[in-house]
Amino acid sequence: MSQVLKVAMPKGRIYNKAAELFRAAGLPIPPEGEEGRKLVIPLPEANMEFILAKPVDVPTYVEYGAVDIGIVGKDVLLEENRDVYELLDLGIARCRMSVIGLPGWQPGIQQRVATKYPNVASQYFREQGQQVEVIKLNGSIELAPLIGLADRIVDMVETGQTLRENGLVEMTHMFDITSRLVANRVSYRMKNAEIQALCDSLHKVITAPAEI
Ligand code: PRP
Repeated sequence: MSQVLKVAMPKGRIYNKAAELFRAAGLPIPPEGEEGRKLVIPLPEANMEFILAKPVDVPTYVEYGAVDIGIVGKDVLLEENRDVYELLDLGIARCRMSVIGLPGWQPGIQQRVATKYPNVASQYFREQGQQVEVIKLNGSIELAPLIGLADRIVDMVETGQTLRENGLVEMTHMFDITSRLVANRVSYRMKNAEIQALCDSLHKVITAPAEI
């Protein structure tokens, strides 16, 4: 009997896409998913257990071995810098990390950048040789330049709708983001067969030619 594989799924915008991918790989993800309030979902038929976590916490659960594997955005991986093993680019929840501001922005003496990603932003501006004060916010980042908290923001852009509706422009496309499958380093050795089998099934789904 193989060991139960514990998987951290991120609640929110990635969840449905990740669940769809797992279903396509033949895993019986229950239809209620994150609609319910249950946070631990056993899947005995697949010998797995799912936990529903806040996306930013997924790498923490994985690093400490509370779960064996997890699904997480590359944005969170870069920001949290946890010691996890990145197994697979799932190609879902595709978006980009960008520097954003009001049209016609000119650098002032004091530059402030608001973001949910202070580590990523600090490193980026340091590499660019720009001295900025980075202000950490937890959401609705686009508000910051609109009401004068910051000159610019570093945030995710998916459809661009939030920017358009708030009269903001993308100044620099920093890098592309997708969701990744990550593993705990010890689990990867101890449950290698189970993790590898899941990786193979997911990889097949990801690389399968799109149906017409
Ligand atoms: C994300 C991101 C942008 C928006 C981009 O916010 O921080 O605000 O989505 O998507 P769009 O380009 O399709 O408009 P999220 O919905 O996660 O909310 P939050 O930042 O307030 O947490």
